[in-house]
Amino acid sequence: MDRNQFAQFLALHGQEHVLDFYDRLDQAGKDKLSAQVEAVDYSLIDRVREENKTEPRGHFEPLDAVTLDVIAQNRDSYFSAGAEALREGKIAAVLLAGGQGTRLGCSGPKGVVDIGITKPVYIFQRLFENTLEVVRATGAKLPFYIMTSDKNHEETVAFLKEHDFFGYPKEDVVFFRQDMTPSVDFEGRLLLEGPDQLSLSPNGNGGWFASMLKAGLKEDMDKRGVEWLNVFAVDNVLQRIADPVFVGATLLSGCTSGAKVVRKADPMERVGVLCLEDGRPSIAEYYEMTDEMIHSRRPDGELSYAFGVILNYLFRRDALENIVSKAMPVHIVDKKIPYITADGTAFKPSEPNGYKFELLVLDMVHMMDSCLSFEVKREKEFAPIKNPTGVDSIESARELLKGNGIEL
Ligand code: UTP
Repeated sequence: MDRNQFAQFLALHGQEHVLDFYDRLDQAGKDKLSAQVEAVDYSLIDRVREENKTEPRGHFEPLDAVTLDVIAQNRDSYFSAGAEALREGKIAAVLLAGGQGTRLGCSGPKGVVDIGITKPVYIFQRLFENTLEVVRATGAKLPFYIMTSDKNHEETVAFLKEHDFFGYPKEDVVFFRQDMTPSVDFEGRLLLEGPDQLSLSPNGNGGWFASMLKAGLKEDMDKRGVEWLNVFAVDNVLQRIADPVFVGATLLSGCTSGAKVVRKADPMERVGVLCLEDGRPSIAEYYEMTDEMIHSRRPDGELSYAFGVILNYLFRRDALENIVSKAMPVHIVDKKIPYITADGTAFKPSEPNGYKFELLVLDMVHMMDSCLSFEVKREKEFAPIKNPTGVDSIESARELLKGNGIEL
């Protein structure tokens, strides 16, 4: 595109301000910027200018969970079915580590954060050590895929290599990068993080399977015989990964997916709840629940919508392959997005100043025909690190780790 064509293209999409930067660039910078601008999905940006930015939801109904007592009764059969699948190499772990950890104030990957007290204990270390326990207990051959983003890939790979993958077999660790997407200001104007660079950020945690396929990992999964993928967040330092009991329960249930859930601490807890939406499994976010849903109780007195998700899901691979070409809802989220002002000065906002576009893994659950809701003990399996202090922080996670006998 020459300058005229570029100007026309920008005008067509209401992005004329990008031209201010273009004129200062050398040819390589011009080509880079115009390629990025051309690749943008402007139908998404048009949605920013619409009044209603959220997708309409369907009719919610409760979904029963396999509760702790039922799991205790069936533990042996669940464990042996899960352990067998793990030994046969049918299960893979997928770590979602492409996020930016803005709430925690990370400048790099969240997994490199040291949460130790008397010795270093890194977030990544906790995840590998937990997974190694399963590998040792079951004799599993467990591929460990790691999704990074352009923002943290090099640092993640270098850190894990330097720490020798915390003892995990390195031939079983496979990295892939997620897609990036542009950010805009509240008027839908593309933000730039440099004169020749749109402000791009990872496209949320819901694009992981599409990104795996894009990275050519279908062949790798075929070669290893992977049939199920256990996908999980980087920041829950207590979670059980590829838990044979969860795997076995999901396989035996005949469901195409499974979700680990914890009982809500109280009806008002701000957590997404696993339920049915128009007859399909789904997650209702706390802000989407009506008062009636929040307080509704079953005849036995238990909350009808009692179980919150913890971002630990098991998906059958063929079901993922069936949905991968289908459009997922795109969430438009207010964020603090660093950018350069019209005169080229870098600016780091302290309040949200624009939107990012995100795909969310929880929407994949709704695309599945069925999902086993599998209860786990919160104090044993849920210690997320999201914030610098207070709720879901390093401090709260340390307490939970100590409670589970983990030395810090
Ligand atoms: P969060 O929703 O907590 O996002 O991610 P975050 O980016 O880590 O943190 P904030 O919101 O900026 O503070 C839940 C999980 O999804 C991953 C994260 O790495 C984490 O494991 N994730 C999130 C991605 O892999 N990619 C993304 O684009 C976003």
